[in-house]
Amino acid sequence: MGDYAYAVETVDLVKNYGSLVAVDHLNLRIRKGEVYSLLGPNGAGKTTTIEMLEGMRKRTSGDIRILGLDPWKNAQRIRRKVGIIPQDFNFMGKIKPGEAIRHYCRLFGIPDRSGELLELVDLRDMSDMYFERLSGGQKQKLGLCLALVNNPELIFLDEPTTGLDPQARRNMWEVIRKLRSEGRTILLTTHYLEEAEMLADRVGIVNHGRMIAEGSPADIIREHGSGRVLSINGDAELARDISAATGRECISENGIIDIRIKDNSDIIEILKMAASRGNDLSRLELRQEGLEDVFVRMVGKVEAD
Ligand SMILES: Nc1ncnc2c1ncn2[C@@H]1O[C@H](COP(=O)(O)OP(=O)(O)OP(=O)(O)O)[C@@H](O)[C@H]1O
Ligand SMILES: [Mg+2]
Repeated sequence: MGDYAYAVETVDLVKNYGSLVAVDHLNLRIRKGEVYSLLGPNGAGKTTTIEMLEGMRKRTSGDIRILGLDPWKNAQRIRRKVGIIPQDFNFMGKIKPGEAIRHYCRLFGIPDRSGELLELVDLRDMSDMYFERLSGGQKQKLGLCLALVNNPELIFLDEPTTGLDPQARRNMWEVIRKLRSEGRTILLTTHYLEEAEMLADRVGIVNHGRMIAEGSPADIIREHGSGRVLSINGDAELARDISAATGRECISENGIIDIRIKDNSDIIEILKMAASRGNDLSRLELRQEGLEDVFVRMVGKVEAD
């Protein structure tokens, strides 16, 4: 292992595309062995950030250290130690998964690992199928195999579970947990907040290229969350009335009202109001606020400012 404090470190990292500031003075510190999830809405700057970390995209300003090295100046050395699944992973149509992995193994000068890696992601049956004939999820799985060929210390996974079926997502979670247990560092992006909550040691929420919250999921929920949410069916008018009557924050969306509850008397009052309107309460749920609730509120709030 090299001599560095963090597997990934950025200082005031900036990327401009013309007048657009895609990454705005981002300071990341990801410890060795950590699973860190970068979260944010579409266009927040996640992929741009990851590609700069990988040494694939040039930064506008700021400093980057990947395993102690500047990735732009040490692209070759970095590539030996990191694994990458790019967003929308794609490959030559006429190559087969087994061949692709063997090819990567040769590039890295290591023995054939195709059997073991295809097994890991449950893709053995597809070993001899042309890439162009694989389903989206199968392509994604091959992407993971290729990312792992060189036994990387640090792995960049940009939306690895997007487009996967529920079983394949669970399989991917297992693989991520296994990689973590082997002491590897993982930087993960996802739009599935419950996935980040479950897998990540720490998450960073970015919006318009800026970090707006960072910490363990539990810390973020504690710091920015409000405790309990009552969720019922109902329209925007009911939401406005509940908000006026209780003074509680209501979010009304797609026929569902989420109300941030302070105490049990709120619940009784709200249910009485709903019932008096003839609401059948076909949805009635009381839950502890999760990362997704916090995310939606924070990202929405910044947008509104
Ligand atoms: N090559 C480019 N030239 C100009 N603008 C770009 C380029 N690549 C990205 N952008 C812009 O930079 C911003 C950040 O894009 P980026 O792909 O990093 O977002 P993201 O957080 O990965 O989003 P998503 O969740 O949709 O993948 C967007 O507004 C995007 O339009
Ligand atoms: Mg992206």
